[in-house]
Amino acid sequence: MKKQIVLTRRLQEECMYELGQHFELEVVGGDETPKREDLLRSLQGKEALICTVAEKIDPELMEACPDLRIISNYGVGFDNIDVSAANRRGILVTNTPDVLTDATADLTWALMLSVARRAVEGDRLIRNGQWHGWAPHFMLGWDVSGKTLGIVGMGRIGQAVARRAIGFNMRILYYSRTRLKEEQEKELRAQYCDLDELLAQADFVSLHTPYSPETHHLIGHEQLSKMKRTAFLINTARGAVVDEQALIHALQSGKIAGAGLDVFEQEPYVPDELRQMEQVVLIPHLGSATRETRLAMGRKVIENLTAYFRGEKPPYLVNP
Ligand code: DGY
Repeated sequence: MKKQIVLTRRLQEECMYELGQHFELEVVGGDETPKREDLLRSLQGKEALICTVAEKIDPELMEACPDLRIISNYGVGFDNIDVSAANRRGILVTNTPDVLTDATADLTWALMLSVARRAVEGDRLIRNGQWHGWAPHFMLGWDVSGKTLGIVGMGRIGQAVARRAIGFNMRILYYSRTRLKEEQEKELRAQYCDLDELLAQADFVSLHTPYSPETHHLIGHEQLSKMKRTAFLINTARGAVVDEQALIHALQSGKIAGAGLDVFEQEPYVPDELRQMEQVVLIPHLGSATRETRLAMGRKVIENLTAYFRGEKPPYLVNP
């Protein structure tokens, strides 16, 4: 008999099909985050949950679902799950690393290029019928090639962003909890430095740290005021790594030139101030949103769950 799995969302059709080959599926939320009471009801007597980065899986939920043994996150970041609470209850937590590295790095570049070269602003202008032809001073942006890129958090995604920067002939600085090995630094042409130095020198500061209490508001008033007035902040990590109000203030007062944001503090809420600024490009958390990547993420979820139900250690276990 197939094992029962509760899903908070309906995933891509191919994923649902492949999951359905292994498990009996119960989807609670469709395209929307499910109501808490519906999720709790469905989880009664169930061992396994597939959730996404948009759902908070907190200690109260775990307590209310005593049979829950494995939470399989459809995403690499797992700050939506209280892993310490899961540890205390012996619940396994898994994620989907590696497969979304390139998609997220690509989107980081989409943000960097579009905000520096004013691509989205230009698109808006044409659609509003405000383009009156080529002119020498019209909509000048900033070069990306040959500039200094500051990468904060040099894990898989940070490294993939650095690899792309080599093609743009950029100088690459990075700050990370763990310093890379010398040969990796050479391969990526990346130079380690402290955060203050990175902020002072980078033309583009790109964030790639996981979210945790340590990285909460890592970029606030003080850090933003250390950036160049001509610099751009790019965030494809997690919204709360940046103090959003401090960022709004820095943008309004011209302390930095602009920002490219894929993530926000209270998604899907995006402050009006950000929505009104021309020098900001906003993307609705699409870092991993390609057909290929989401399918690959679904396959990692299957690998984790099939291993668990065979009595093996899931390959992408987050907790010890
Ligand atoms: C992740 O997997 O952490 C991403 O943010 C989801 O797109």
